[in-house]
Amino acid sequence: MSAAAPRSIWSSRPAFILVTVGSAVGLGNIWRFSYMAGAQGGSAFVLVYLSCVALVGLPLLMAEILIGRRGRGNPISAMLKVAEENGASSWWGLLGWFGAVGALLILSYYSVVAGWIVDYLAQSVSGAAIVTARDAAQGFDALLENPSKLIFWHTVFLALTVGVVARGVISGIERASMLMLPALFGILLFLVLWGAVMGDMRAAWHFMFDFKPQQLTGQVVLSAMGHAFFSLSLGMGAIMTYGSYLNKQSSIAHNSLWIAFADTLVGLLAGLAIFSLTFAHGLEASSGPGLIFQTLPLVFTHMPGGRIIGTLFFLLVLFAAWTSAISLLEPFVAWATERLGMRRALAACGAGFAVWLLGVAVCLSFNVWRDWRIFDLNLFNQLDFLTNRIIMPLSGLAIALFAGFVMARENVRDEIRLPAAQFRLWLWTLRYVTILAIVLVFVYRLMNPES
Ligand code: PHE
Repeated sequence: MSAAAPRSIWSSRPAFILVTVGSAVGLGNIWRFSYMAGAQGGSAFVLVYLSCVALVGLPLLMAEILIGRRGRGNPISAMLKVAEENGASSWWGLLGWFGAVGALLILSYYSVVAGWIVDYLAQSVSGAAIVTARDAAQGFDALLENPSKLIFWHTVFLALTVGVVARGVISGIERASMLMLPALFGILLFLVLWGAVMGDMRAAWHFMFDFKPQQLTGQVVLSAMGHAFFSLSLGMGAIMTYGSYLNKQSSIAHNSLWIAFADTLVGLLAGLAIFSLTFAHGLEASSGPGLIFQTLPLVFTHMPGGRIIGTLFFLLVLFAAWTSAISLLEPFVAWATERLGMRRALAACGAGFAVWLLGVAVCLSFNVWRDWRIFDLNLFNQLDFLTNRIIMPLSGLAIALFAGFVMARENVRDEIRLPAAQFRLWLWTLRYVTILAIVLVFVYRLMNPES
């Protein structure tokens, strides 16, 4: 596509909502949300998380879509264009770079974890039995110890991602989300029903929603807020890029509400399904990142119909991860096609290859290179730290400052188009609540890396 070619526009409003929900709903909602909620006592984390979505996530989601649509370009050119329109410095263009490159960094380790999902999916299909908790733990450790297997599944997953992005915005990204998301919701509802029939839904419900003030610690607030960023795909140029394909008439506020609602709902439903099955088998929810890789497979083996349920579960996670990974690759590919005039397929393969190489290093950081550490973190955790604790909050902060203070009010208004009182409420929240919350959490977490 040359720089002058017309840009794609999502074919409908539901299509935009669906693809953006596809970006938001990912490993974050199922893998991270359930183990974080599980490890932090359930309801306290869930309730704080809901407030973080409302006060930080939603205002920022609107700001990011607004900049993307106003700039009508990849994150770099969108930032430059909107900065220029508002008489601001072209240094703001760096923010676009921060996002597009940060997204590729996330993708490099995201794809490795998604590779574990594909491996577990293959095991579920083949009916591999995991009889004891020891088997489950050993199975997971053995996977991490096996570089060729890790690299193989990482390659498979990344190839799936590149394949979709290479096909284009409408015939690739939109079409894939239109197919995968309804399936994802269908499977999720089925699993929740299954959890209600076969599991201990009552215990899961109490675990997730009973208010237990004694569990409300600073630590819970910090991790809930970090998770709100990750789960809503904020600050990485993904939402900005998707917003840039949104037609001018569509309401940013309504769309954002739907997106935040659907993303949160998926996390909550996945939590209910996972915990009800876990508790019904007398297992603990607090096992950390291994929850869906160690605890759940054990549950599936001991449950009637477990092979089918296990297969459906890992298929659900695969769809979720796939549509998110697509949105991590797209910002850079959009830049390469629009700015360099590269063919989309070539741009997707090129960026995919760079991500693949870094991902291979991530695979090795669990085994052969495990002793290569900075601050006692292996490469996987370093990348997670860099992107989640530094790049995401900083670029989220910059987006909030830009939309809240730098852009001329009429321009913001022209995009957000809410009745006056609601508009003021949004702008006020973005300026004073969102920004303050991000700064506090950012500084605190940087000073206390173990938090
Ligand atoms: N939101 C995705 C998830 O929950 C991850 C993601 C982060 C995707 C940033 C795009 C940008 O898994």
